[in-house]
Amino acid sequence: MSNCIIAPSILSANFAKLGEEVDNVLAAGADWVHFDVMDNHYVPNLTIGPMVCQALRKHGVTAPIDVHLMVEPVDRIVPDFAEAGASLISFHPEASRHVHRTIQLIKSHGCKAGLVLNPATPVEVLDWVLEDLDLVLLMSVNPGFGGQAFIPSTLDKLRAVRSMIDKLGKPITLEVDGGVKADNIGAIAAAGADAFVAGSAIFNAPDYAGVIAQMRANVAAARG
Ligand code: DX5
Ligand code: ZN
Repeated sequence: MSNCIIAPSILSANFAKLGEEVDNVLAAGADWVHFDVMDNHYVPNLTIGPMVCQALRKHGVTAPIDVHLMVEPVDRIVPDFAEAGASLISFHPEASRHVHRTIQLIKSHGCKAGLVLNPATPVEVLDWVLEDLDLVLLMSVNPGFGGQAFIPSTLDKLRAVRSMIDKLGKPITLEVDGGVKADNIGAIAAAGADAFVAGSAIFNAPDYAGVIAQMRANVAAARG
């Protein structure tokens, strides 16, 4: 798997023409579609569910759909997203009563499984489950809204999780979400991330391809 995965968050896309927005951002060089699911319960906002995921598949989207569940409870909705065409499903440990069980549930439905750590969630939550995961997602903002500022302590946390993954020696993707822009993505890559969610930085720009190319160039430069 590439270690510079650009995953635009459609939270900042124009929902009135979502299919076209996703087509355009993929044509502009994006790798994954980051799909933010909010329930007005686990987080104070409400977005989109499995029907919208399925609509994107029916529209012809073949790129991986990276579903970020900010919902509680988690397990009830997992099979629906798998059926709707999700490729990866990530969830917050605080929102699941049995974290290991939820990971197994996601994998049993043929999807890759990810665990999401909020800014204040300690990395120890990964102990005993890291080897079962395909992805770790570090939140660099508090979940619920696009357009927030990157929390700098995420860089140290990225380095800590990077070394846990390297020590384990398994191909687990390390993704970061929140406040990622072309001007900080280099530092984020240098701290060990290999997948980058960006919502407002891409969808609020007039030229999606230009921003994505600049992001890739800055990641390459930071890695030397
Ligand atoms: C926040 C979401 C993010 C958000 C990122 O809860 O998980 O994916 O859309 O948006 P930006 O890139 O604008 O911070
Ligand atoms: Zn997200």
